[in-house]
Amino acid sequence: MTVKKRVAILISGRGSNMSALIEAARAPDYPAEIVGVFSNRSDAPGLAIAAAAGIPTAFRSHKDFPDRESFDAAIQAILDEWRADLVCLAGYMRIFSTGFAERWTGRMLNIHPSLLPRHKGLKPQLQALDAGDAESGCTVHWVIPDLDDGPAILQRRVPILPGDTAETLAARILAEEHIAYPQALAMVCRGEVAL
Ligand code: GAR
Repeated sequence: MTVKKRVAILISGRGSNMSALIEAARAPDYPAEIVGVFSNRSDAPGLAIAAAAGIPTAFRSHKDFPDRESFDAAIQAILDEWRADLVCLAGYMRIFSTGFAERWTGRMLNIHPSLLPRHKGLKPQLQALDAGDAESGCTVHWVIPDLDDGPAILQRRVPILPGDTAETLAARILAEEHIAYPQALAMVCRGEVAL
């Protein structure tokens, strides 16, 4: 049997993608185990969900650290404690120091609710509507030091329908995110893709 990769998840909020990864990792043949969930917000609903699933959780606030580097060093210490092989960002809304991002390059994934490279940054669903796009979707990609950038691992597409709002489009995309992220993580863990 192949050894499962030890995966830490970083969140800032709801944690529905985190939940999708936790759920997928319950399958005996899934190639990853979720070893911990970190949040930079104590009120992230995902923290309680992870704890209820029996997964170790940790929280640190950047307000308790003098700069980005020392905050990221605190995250690194937690990842070391969990002996994480890989990091999955799942709605983690804080920019990393270059050093941290470089250290995890090739071992850190993110999911973004647009067909990257289109619509990086905030409110990508609204950006897609404003641009008059006929379709949108989600992208699981490698994290490199530039925000919302790095080569795509997997994309799933959805149509943009007449009358769509940012909310209806976000919901349609989110359903695809919950399929895409577990699939992309499995591909990475099985060595089918690499940066
Ligand atoms: C998801 O839609 C994710 O793609 C997005 O935040 C949401 C988090 O939801 N991430 C980004 O926009 C990253 N730039 P979740 O907490 O329910 O997984």
